[in-house]
Amino acid sequence: MVNHRQITKAIIPAAGLGSRFLPVTKAVPKEMLPILDKPMLQFVIEEVIEAGIEEIILVVSPGKESISSYFRDNTELEKHLSSTDGHKLIELVKNIPTGDQVSYVVQEEPLGLGHAVLTAHAAIGDNPFAIVLPDDIITNTPGALRQMIDIYNAYGSGVIAVEAVPWESVDKYGVISGNRISDNLHQIESLVEKPAMDQAPSNLCIVGRYILPHTIFNDLRNTKTGAKNEIQLTDALSLALNTERILAYEFEGVRYDGGTPFGLLRASLEFGLARNDMKQDIIQLLGSLLSASSNSAT
Ligand code: G1P
Repeated sequence: MVNHRQITKAIIPAAGLGSRFLPVTKAVPKEMLPILDKPMLQFVIEEVIEAGIEEIILVVSPGKESISSYFRDNTELEKHLSSTDGHKLIELVKNIPTGDQVSYVVQEEPLGLGHAVLTAHAAIGDNPFAIVLPDDIITNTPGALRQMIDIYNAYGSGVIAVEAVPWESVDKYGVISGNRISDNLHQIESLVEKPAMDQAPSNLCIVGRYILPHTIFNDLRNTKTGAKNEIQLTDALSLALNTERILAYEFEGVRYDGGTPFGLLRASLEFGLARNDMKQDIIQLLGSLLSASSNSAT
């Protein structure tokens, strides 16, 4: 194991407009939409804390104030729960990190993921750091970020999570090409953001987990507007390849796409099936929906 600077800070970009979830995102930030009873954001916060991160920097846009209220102590609620039957419920609200662990920077204009990350430069300083995108929900123990920090500790290079996706979906992602260096690890040769299927160098797509050196901020400053007319993190990573080795890691775990209503529905059903208090009801519901749809097909 090489001795590298520890990864103690993580940026969680939460400044997107959430246009795939309109109209609800007119009033509710996408990151606060629930899988059953827990906001998407809480799932990634738990992954980040399990990975040993001590400081979380949330990049928010103007108007997303309800995100910060989630991390504020709510003594009234706790008082109410302790005077009723809510002792177990108190534990749920106490699992949310507060104050000194979470800070905010505001991205004033929606200029893209790369720009959102650059906005957090002052909070990161010259430390290596993690980026975690809250609409990629990954279940596994250990979590995907923990796995990636172990790789970073072993190799001392940047690490990006990737997953093989069906070819017809590659245009929704950043795509890498690389040389395989072990079963689930590749040294990245090139990256391209949202390529057309026939232009993609592979079907290994970037999933929203990154561990990067602070030099990426310089690359971001030199990155021109790219796909969707935005400053793309993927384009800055292409620049970084001139001076840095970056690894692509095929993580262990199941990824749910919290960026679309269908992805959230799938996660809600699967997470509900794993819960004793809901499993039977969901099985029954699915069974009756299935027989209703096969009856209507005949
Ligand atoms: C972003 C990144 C893309 C990555 C994706 C993973 O895209 O730009 O490279 O593959 O997250 O979820 P977005 O989904 O914000 O369009």
